[in-house]
Amino acid sequence: MDAEIESLAVLGAGSMGHGIAEVAAIAGYDVVLRDIEEDLVEDGYEQIEWSLEKLAEKNQIDQDPDDVLARISTMVDLEAAVADADLVIEAAPEDLEIKRNIFADVDAASGEETIMATNTSSLRVGDIAEATDRPEYVCGMHFFNPPVKMDLVEVAAGEQTAAAVIDAGVEFVESLDKTPIRVRKDVPQFVVNNVLTPFMGEAGFMYDEGDVEIQDVDAAMVFQRGYPMGPFELNDFGGLDIFYHSREQWDDPIPESISSRVDAEDLGRKTGKGFYDYDDGEGVNYE
Ligand code: 3HC
Repeated sequence: MDAEIESLAVLGAGSMGHGIAEVAAIAGYDVVLRDIEEDLVEDGYEQIEWSLEKLAEKNQIDQDPDDVLARISTMVDLEAAVADADLVIEAAPEDLEIKRNIFADVDAASGEETIMATNTSSLRVGDIAEATDRPEYVCGMHFFNPPVKMDLVEVAAGEQTAAAVIDAGVEFVESLDKTPIRVRKDVPQFVVNNVLTPFMGEAGFMYDEGDVEIQDVDAAMVFQRGYPMGPFELNDFGGLDIFYHSREQWDDPIPESISSRVDAEDLGRKTGKGFYDYDDGEGVNYE
């Protein structure tokens, strides 16, 4: 098995996909960013442009943003996107059928030794790998939002993933100047989300019971625990719909304060309102 990674395709240009492509391009890889429609790929590319400008403004990057952008090409054609890739990272919506269809297509269109990684946050690697004829080449590679700022990446094995594929994934993550951890058993939600979603859930249940105020819980976790964001603020940041679907998939209990906001499409920052009000209110405020 030749598991050296030199070329890369990222499938899905949403908040995770474009961020992963950006991180890889910063590290010097030539990256193909692909989504199912031209508009979606363009949106993702514009997000990368915005992010690189921000990083440059703050001297958080030591390269010209244009040099990084020159390493990213965009595409809609999946077959062309993966044809020459040593590693394909799928960052499509969190839906098993969608991911399985993508993996079947990637398997058919990519080289025999292409590593196929999923950025799933809540599904089992093995359930996705079953859609391919090469489950030993399938692994989880779970980045966090926003990938360009988050250090950790979970590299996860399905039951049939080859050890060399995990080793290559770990080495690739290190080459991005990020910190990998190995998730050795095929547990849905890997390590971080298994701890993080109950944390956000418990905060929601306490709020539903009328025991606490939102900003007090967030302040407690930020000022006592030293977390960068409290649970409500983090849920708004990632999107309440993402939390909701990850719990729903495994019949995990969901606080009413979250399901009612999802029903009302108050999904957090991306819709202007969630637990905090970003458009009409003052956003996150611990007072
Ligand atoms: N690229 C460049 N700049 C960005 C950016 C991006 N992608 N995203 C945000 N920024 C900018 C902001 O616009 C802001 O700019 P401004 O100061 O001009 O307004 C600036 O970054 C803030 O950056 P700082 O370094 O000054 O501030 P922080 O240290 O507070 O960092 C943060 C911001 C990194 C988002 C931090 O608040 C944080 O770590 N939050 C927690 C995020 C987290 O836990 N993510 C994981 C969620 S779980 C997950 O992703 C799992 C998945 O499966 C669902």
